[in-house]
Amino acid sequence: MTAIVVHPCEHPLVGSVPVPSDKSIGHRALLFAAICLGKSRIKGFTGGDDNRSTAAALRAMGVVIDEVGSEVTVTGNGLFGLRAPTSSLDCGNSGTTMRLLCGLLAPQPFESTLTGDASLQSRPMMRVIGPLRSRGARIDGRPHPKKADDVTGPLVVHGLPSGEYLGPLEYVSEIASAQVKSALLLSGLYAHGPTYIREPMLSRDHTERLLLSLGVPLSTMGPIVRLDPSTWNGQMPAFDLELPGDPSAAAFLVTAAQLVDKSKVVVRDVGTNPTRTGFFEIARDMGAGIATEPHGERGGEPIADVHAWSAPLRSTRIGGELIPRAVDEIPIACALAARANGTTMIMDASELRVKESDRLATMALVLRAFGVSCEERPDGLVITGKEGAFTPARIDSRGDHRIAMTAAVMALAASGPSRILDVDCITTSFPKFIGTLRALGARIDVEAVDG
Ligand code: S3P
Repeated sequence: MTAIVVHPCEHPLVGSVPVPSDKSIGHRALLFAAICLGKSRIKGFTGGDDNRSTAAALRAMGVVIDEVGSEVTVTGNGLFGLRAPTSSLDCGNSGTTMRLLCGLLAPQPFESTLTGDASLQSRPMMRVIGPLRSRGARIDGRPHPKKADDVTGPLVVHGLPSGEYLGPLEYVSEIASAQVKSALLLSGLYAHGPTYIREPMLSRDHTERLLLSLGVPLSTMGPIVRLDPSTWNGQMPAFDLELPGDPSAAAFLVTAAQLVDKSKVVVRDVGTNPTRTGFFEIARDMGAGIATEPHGERGGEPIADVHAWSAPLRSTRIGGELIPRAVDEIPIACALAARANGTTMIMDASELRVKESDRLATMALVLRAFGVSCEERPDGLVITGKEGAFTPARIDSRGDHRIAMTAAVMALAASGPSRILDVDCITTSFPKFIGTLRALGARIDVEAVDG
């Protein structure tokens, strides 16, 4: 296990840095390439362990995936080109891998088992299994230890006997979840009949963009998506895609620039798809120094350089449609709130309780450890900004990458060194996080810890 000691910044953070490739788009690019026909090239692939879990699962089903530097070549054999895996598919820490694979594997003519680490095997899976079962899928899970009526991994996806198909689906989802939506759309590629999904609010739409670019007959209207394969020949051509930088990773650097006085940071080539920019909008509402310099598109997704500089912050209210557009950035938005003048309310965010950790509970502990006053509510947090430096803290990340990185960023603005335990998880999404902060001028020591 690794710990880091983060020293308070004595100088501004300055520089221009890249971030890893977008994790969400990376998963989708790999999965779709695996069922396209021919060799797809995914460029700028610098994502972390979560993307590697998806690649490993596909390799275990016979998909040839070659990596040279940051370019990945995937040889797809069409919708029915996957082979039965000979052992269970380990999704690691990645909820996206497990949930999207449910949708892809449910219509296959073979059985597969999906496992993951302890955190993943405590996450609710009925949200995908329920609607998939209603169109004929056979998937079993382990009863969820804490949620009656829910299940968690390991999951056994039985597949379909020859001559059986998934049926049509009309699904009104109670949660805005791109993982649920994408799993259902993947299953819809194989179904006899249309797939109609309505979310309460639009979640990230990378799946829709990619499928449309591959000629799949799909239409969208706000939070409604419909896929009707009846007029489709069931083939997707191989593609070339250059991945944008991950806006979720950029959020940590933008926040670091706000917390360390006189900082000036540029994050290059960041994806600015509007379904992902909630955090940047929150930061701007709070008075943060932030500007985007758009420069075109990458793989059908807008990209921009994000300029961030320290500025006085004020409190805000975060809720409603901003939540799905900033769902992974709420922990780091708490760090802005911790520094803002006034009391920030975070509402409508109960989904955070079922992420890699219960992020509302974990963030409440982190904030208090840094001397920031915080009230935990069932669906959010009430955070009163602290004047002056944070109290040096000792934080256990609980294996959650976004908690570990949030704590590291807050530690830059503490009055003495802080220790963050269990930081290996950072490689899930941002393998070069510590190196990037160091390149901007931060002082961080890495320590190996027994056990
Ligand atoms: C993701 C969707 C989000 C997000 C996760 C990645 C995706 O989950 O939290 O980190 O790639 O589809 P939900 O859409 O289920 O909230």
